[in-house]
Amino acid sequence: MTDFPVEKIRADFPILQEKIRNKPLVYLDNAASCQKPQQVIDSIVHLYSHEYANVHRGVHTLSVKATDRYEGAREKVQQFINAQSTKEIIFVRGATEAINLIAQTFAKENIKAGDEILITAMEHHSNIVPWQMLCEQTGAVLKVAPINLQGELIYAEFENLLTDKTKLVSVVHMSNALGTVNPVEKIIAAAKAKKIPVLLDGAQAIPHMSVDVQALGCDFYVFSGHKLYAPSGIGVLYGKQALLEAMPPYQGGGDMIRKVTFEETEYNSLPYKFEAGTPNIADVVGLGAAIDYLNTIGMERIAAYEAELLDYATEKAKQIQGLRIIGEAGAKGAILSFVLDKIHPHDIGTMLDSLGIAIRAGHHCAMPVMDFFEVPATARASFAMYNTKEEVDILMAGIADLIEIFG
Ligand code: ALA
Repeated sequence: MTDFPVEKIRADFPILQEKIRNKPLVYLDNAASCQKPQQVIDSIVHLYSHEYANVHRGVHTLSVKATDRYEGAREKVQQFINAQSTKEIIFVRGATEAINLIAQTFAKENIKAGDEILITAMEHHSNIVPWQMLCEQTGAVLKVAPINLQGELIYAEFENLLTDKTKLVSVVHMSNALGTVNPVEKIIAAAKAKKIPVLLDGAQAIPHMSVDVQALGCDFYVFSGHKLYAPSGIGVLYGKQALLEAMPPYQGGGDMIRKVTFEETEYNSLPYKFEAGTPNIADVVGLGAAIDYLNTIGMERIAAYEAELLDYATEKAKQIQGLRIIGEAGAKGAILSFVLDKIHPHDIGTMLDSLGIAIRAGHHCAMPVMDFFEVPATARASFAMYNTKEEVDILMAGIADLIEIFG
């Protein structure tokens, strides 16, 4: 895409200037965590240098300033995902904490023995284990909709599993291991027809596409900041206000209360009811700065650029003999998982690192996906808006060299 300002964007990410093993860094591990622009780094330095104090607790100037920054970031998140109200935006540690929160509050209140929770076979561990824990606690049953060899959800099977027993559907919007983008509109419509609430795990989708929670109509949407060019340790739980109002708190402590006596506690209103304790103030501000940054580029443009990058990488990868792509869904985000004949993914990762290329080799926190494809692990190149076709060429040349030397 000729008008995408990739060089200007690259210049904003100081780490991209690093040399790794005396080679220019080619950073293709964005699905594990992406890099941060100077604007995000500066926002945190500025807060700590000039505007830092605790939030919601002080009448002094710095506390008011810090509170304004913190709540300002909440408004940015609300607008970014088009939630109806800032009351629907809860700051958490990441997508994992958000799912655990929903499991231990909303789901624990509403799900009983024999009820079913429906997920897919391409979930990240963070959208499997919290439900297994809940099933152990309640006697509920975890149902898994299967995928095909392209790495796509078998939608008919999903629909078959959606029954009167299903009390919650929790699916990944975009798979971190395969890149598959699920047909979430269809999934939500089918669940809504049966009045079943839907949680979308958006950790991997959010940096790659424009997300509108009202248009989607999901009940919950969760994501992590660190995959969205924001700091690690901060994430968002979006929930429809009526559901959040009805849910019990997750943790007790300061800020989530209105009145405390030894006899009883009155909880605070939304969103504070779910934000016990001093929050991760600086990283919330960093998340707000990341959203400002993304808004200057536009999520639609980012999606179009990355789609072109993925097409280019896929075409090149297909020309390499002995390379098998894992995950070839029709609807796919910028992730290329692959295996090579005779070379273990960990060796691929180590050898590419010697060329300055960072990819992830492993199970990508999605062991059932590896089992399904009968591989111990995959090598995964995951792209961000700052990657280029030249970097794809460097990756492919590196893989070709590996095969020649070790294959
Ligand atoms: N979930 C992260 C990944 O995909 C860590 O690598």
